[in-house]
Amino acid sequence: MKNPPKTRPTIDSEKNSRPNQNSARGFEVIDEIKAEVDKICGRPVVSCADIVAVAARDSVVAARDSVVALGGPSWKVLLGRRDSTTASRTQADTYLPAPFMDLPALINNFKNQGLNERDLVALSGGHTIGFAQCFTFRNRIYNATNIDPVFAENRRATCPRTGGDTNLAPLDPTPARFDNAYFNNLVKQRGLLISDQALFSGGSTDDLVST
Ligand code: HEM
Repeated sequence: MKNPPKTRPTIDSEKNSRPNQNSARGFEVIDEIKAEVDKICGRPVVSCADIVAVAARDSVVAARDSVVALGGPSWKVLLGRRDSTTASRTQADTYLPAPFMDLPALINNFKNQGLNERDLVALSGGHTIGFAQCFTFRNRIYNATNIDPVFAENRRATCPRTGGDTNLAPLDPTPARFDNAYFNNLVKQRGLLISDQALFSGGSTDDLVST
């Protein structure tokens, strides 16, 4: 996951694409896990792709709401993914959705990858975890009309009109919990990104968010 990897100095990956600048964090943990597993096995044996898939499952289990913990979401991860030997930053720059997109643009962006509106809403639920930098939501908290005014004011406290571009705010009120707060929050017009609130703003995905 190091970039560029020592063994593949020509790879310029999605990790470096514009929408992911300063955004995709924590890769050093993947590097450390790989080093440990490979050391115990005596040769490079585990792929970064398998580590990411297992870590994603385990962090969802660790972060799930204590109420849901009784029988909450876990799943079997099939192993054996191989790491890609190529990558395209240009394609990542072109196809990754932007946080400033409205609903038609988001629907179209996902459609181009074979994903439907239900997929769009369900996958955006990934924003139940984590944070976003001020520059990604500044326009919304100063100019949007489909926003809870108290929420907007609170967010402005740490995201000024100018400066503070990298200041972080949680994507939902419980950024370390895998719960329903992200969707409940959208119904209250407290989505952080334009692309979050677009999913519940009088359009065709409203019912998917609220049910
Ligand atoms: C619908 C289109 C999407 C857009 C426009 C979008 C946009 C963003 C943006 C702008 C951030 C903040 C990045 C930063 O501050 O640098 C973010 C963070 C995040 N996104 Fe998305 N995202 C989308 C879909 C997804 C999906 C499908 C998932 C996973 C299923 C996901 C998972 C996350 C997570 C976990 C974070 C927090 C990262 C952290 O705190 O380190 N996002 N997203």
